[in-house]
Amino acid sequence: MTSAHPSSPSPGHGSYPERVRIVEVGPRDGLQNEALPVPTETKVAYVDALSAAGFGEIEVTSFVHPKLVPQLADASAVLAGIERRPGVVYSALVPNPKGLERAVEAGVDRIAVFTAASETFNQKNINATIAESIDRFRPVMDGARAAGIPVRGYVSTAFVCPFEGEIPVGKAVDVIEQLLDLGVDEISIGDTIGAAVPLQVHRLLEALGPILPLPQTTMHFHDTRGTGLANVLASLEHGVAAFDAASGGLGGCPFAPGASGNLATEDLVYLLHGLGIQTGLDPAALRKASDVIELALGWRLPSRVRRAGPASVSWDERTEQP
Ligand code: HMG
Ligand code: MG
Repeated sequence: MTSAHPSSPSPGHGSYPERVRIVEVGPRDGLQNEALPVPTETKVAYVDALSAAGFGEIEVTSFVHPKLVPQLADASAVLAGIERRPGVVYSALVPNPKGLERAVEAGVDRIAVFTAASETFNQKNINATIAESIDRFRPVMDGARAAGIPVRGYVSTAFVCPFEGEIPVGKAVDVIEQLLDLGVDEISIGDTIGAAVPLQVHRLLEALGPILPLPQTTMHFHDTRGTGLANVLASLEHGVAAFDAASGGLGGCPFAPGASGNLATEDLVYLLHGLGIQTGLDPAALRKASDVIELALGWRLPSRVRRAGPASVSWDERTEQP
């Protein structure tokens, strides 16, 4: 697990971390939202190409109801087809004990349970109240512990819900506390529809300071309204050193009207490397991975850095900073 090592001075408050861990969620969050099915062998080639880019963790797929998310119905086949690089964690979303059973059989390294800070969104997404979802996760946690599989906990709509509007900070904090009590080793805080602004990020992270250690904090931004990188910067100022992102800016959530692409990994890497923050990622290899999926999808991925190409300054091509 990455820990925050404040080093470079930030122009705002505090210091930026020296190194940031990026969890690549394109194969899951990205492809779950695609209108047309992507062939299993393309997904396998995409994940293999991502493995070559230097990620520590790739969220490969979801073990959810295959009729509700048909795009990821081939979860087991994808996991069986990929070439597993030593040191890379291949993870998947699991909503309930049935999902855990399938995930364990497929040999995932890590699972993620997911709930929300909004009752309405949670109901539409996983057909459960927040309290019911937490109860559902208890046997999942027990089973994962028995199988030696670590568990991340997602909190969706942590800032804004497409049905309820702005979410009070206390509501998100309460759900995060419940997930921590269950024993998840990390919380991924989701701006599901890409509507949050830095002020909201500051408020939530300030409130979480006493209960959520930085090494257990990951931010999951969607970039629907172009505030993704601004929210990353706000998070860095609090010492957050882990972010989810999707290559090329793929993504969305089929149960959240208005959700579009995740923050693009290329855009995040460009910003971080430019700030002198290490990611361990190779931008050229990342570009090749996005090429694989862009070619298969047949539409231009939205990442601004991808569309712009290499800049005349060289930091976007550097993998490690001094
Ligand atoms: P349910 O209908 O309440 O489940 O769905 P159930 O327990 O009543 O079971 C109904 C039937 O589904 C049964 O089959 C089960 O066996 C089957 P039947 O007996 O009728 O033939 N079933 C399953 N089959 C395969 N795998 C399973 C499974 N579970 C039950 N795991 C459930 C509840 C959660 C399963 C459903 O609502 C679901 O799959 N929802 C999909 C949610 C989803 O994938 N959302 C997108 C991901 S979340 C997201 O994108 C946000 C995130 O990125 C962060 C952010 O941006 O904020 C993470
Ligand atoms: Mg998401």
